[in-house]
Amino acid sequence: MISVSELERSYRRSRTSLTGPRPEVHALRGVSFDIERGQRFGIVGESGSGKSTLVRLLAALDRPTSGSITFQGRRIDDLPERRLGFLRSQVQIVFQDPMGSLDPRMRVRDIISEPLGRRPGRRERVRELLDAVGLPADASERYPHQFSGGQRQRISLARALAPRPSVLLADEAVSALDVLVRKQILDLIAELVERYELTLVFVSHDLGVVRRVCDTVAVMRAGEIVELGPVDEVYDDPKHPYTRELIAAAPNLAAALAGLEEE
Ligand SMILES: Nc1ncnc2c1ncn2[C@@H]1O[C@H](COP(=O)(O)OP(=O)(O)O)[C@@H](O)[C@H]1O
Ligand SMILES: [Mg+2]
Repeated sequence: MISVSELERSYRRSRTSLTGPRPEVHALRGVSFDIERGQRFGIVGESGSGKSTLVRLLAALDRPTSGSITFQGRRIDDLPERRLGFLRSQVQIVFQDPMGSLDPRMRVRDIISEPLGRRPGRRERVRELLDAVGLPADASERYPHQFSGGQRQRISLARALAPRPSVLLADEAVSALDVLVRKQILDLIAELVERYELTLVFVSHDLGVVRRVCDTVAVMRAGEIVELGPVDEVYDDPKHPYTRELIAAAPNLAAALAGLEEE
């Protein structure tokens, strides 16, 4: 579904002094991996490790400094915007803060149906999507601020699913939610991935949530992938010292996992 090879992305920081050089930040260095259709691919790493940069590149919202990205066998990293139409519906993103991505002046029905344009059957589609994400039909007439954080994330998911994407990118999509709601939204994501046969790329600094929804995990540190494999293998028998450190530094991981398993 997605293949990235030797991906690099560096940024020029703004000058810290008038005469000094502009320091370069290597947000991604030599990142390569393949994501198969239907895979639930997790990306974990501390803040600043390059996760969001990678997500933006996969969605073609940003361009790599070097390296390549192919989507269903087509190179996308060098395509001009006018030729990215297919990708804009095929790949959808859900972010951490739905308030920042949902227009507060729009009703939920318009937020969800906006990606559908003037297509007929929009009303039914909105009703179907609200049902799929566990919101009542009358939610369609309301505005984002009338919902809780978890419900807003449901609205974001409904909107993301509207154009029938094949890939869902989630960047810290549950990180702002409290534990109980987080569990509900994680379970909803898992359910939607299965129901709509999505390929999932799920990014989080939280190892516990990644284990809950992903089958594969890539561990990032300072712009590089230091370990990649099936979640159970990586978590139960980490090979890289940094992965071991991350797991050790997450003393709440075992507790969180135990808590998440409670029904
Ligand atoms: N637009 C940008 N301009 C300059 N530096 C950036 C920009 N975006 C990200 N960075 C830097 O790239 C690194 C990786 O950031 P990011 O991808 O947001 O990491 P993460 O999502 O893992 O927290 C950080 O050092 C960050 O400061
Ligand atoms: Mg980020």
